[in-house]
Amino acid sequence: MRTKIFAHRGASGKAPENTMTAFKKAAEEGADGIELDVHLTRDRIPIVIHDETVDRTTDGYGFVKDYSLEGLKKLSAGHWKGWKFRHEQIPTLEEVLKWLSKTELTLIVEFKNNILPYKGLEQKTIHLLEKYHMLERTIFSSFNHNSLFKVKELYKQAETAALYGKPIASPAQYAKTIRVDGLHPSFRLINQPLIQNLHANGIKVRPYTVNSQRIMETLFSWKIDGLITDYPARARDSLHRIRL
Ligand code: G3P
Ligand code: CA
Repeated sequence: MRTKIFAHRGASGKAPENTMTAFKKAAEEGADGIELDVHLTRDRIPIVIHDETVDRTTDGYGFVKDYSLEGLKKLSAGHWKGWKFRHEQIPTLEEVLKWLSKTELTLIVEFKNNILPYKGLEQKTIHLLEKYHMLERTIFSSFNHNSLFKVKELYKQAETAALYGKPIASPAQYAKTIRVDGLHPSFRLINQPLIQNLHANGIKVRPYTVNSQRIMETLFSWKIDGLITDYPARARDSLHRIRL
């Protein structure tokens, strides 16, 4: 099977990250799936934003967890990327799923619970995915590997993948120990023998965040399972080029 292309926070190289515009752009650019980040609002609603605070990507400030959904919806999630994006809102996970469920795209949902705990985040996310018939099209990922274990307890068929950005001594062994189906390492941590070893152990590998065409082409030639990028169109072109 060919490598799948996942748009990191949507097509975030061209539109404000984690917005509906970025997700729709990813679909237009031929991505196979989107990656997004989930936190909980003060009123315990799964919301799609990367950071723990709204400071970097909106015109507000403070922790996501301290805002009600109504409060978050008043913020601009696009102004920081340019005037034309000023009406962009922070989407709820439900809003994204409503749209995504009508497409053929796959989802990588990342629980952003490695810094703040967000009790109930896994359960609420699974519930929404079930409502929109998206469970079988979703890969659950997190830097919080205990959270992925919890996902399997709640939904045993869940496909999970552990994120990591620092070297792990024996990645295949580690993946088996924590019972994940795949690994999502920083692309800087991988090499061809490692990919071969992971595949020999039945473990999928989807590195992040790959934006250079040269590196994309190398990784495609190693037959990685997925590639997470801010530039899905560039990845499509690279994939096409190495298949010529
Ligand atoms: O899914 C890979 C990537 O999203 C992990 O890092 O910080 O962009 O969420 P980050
Ligand atoms: Ca992420």
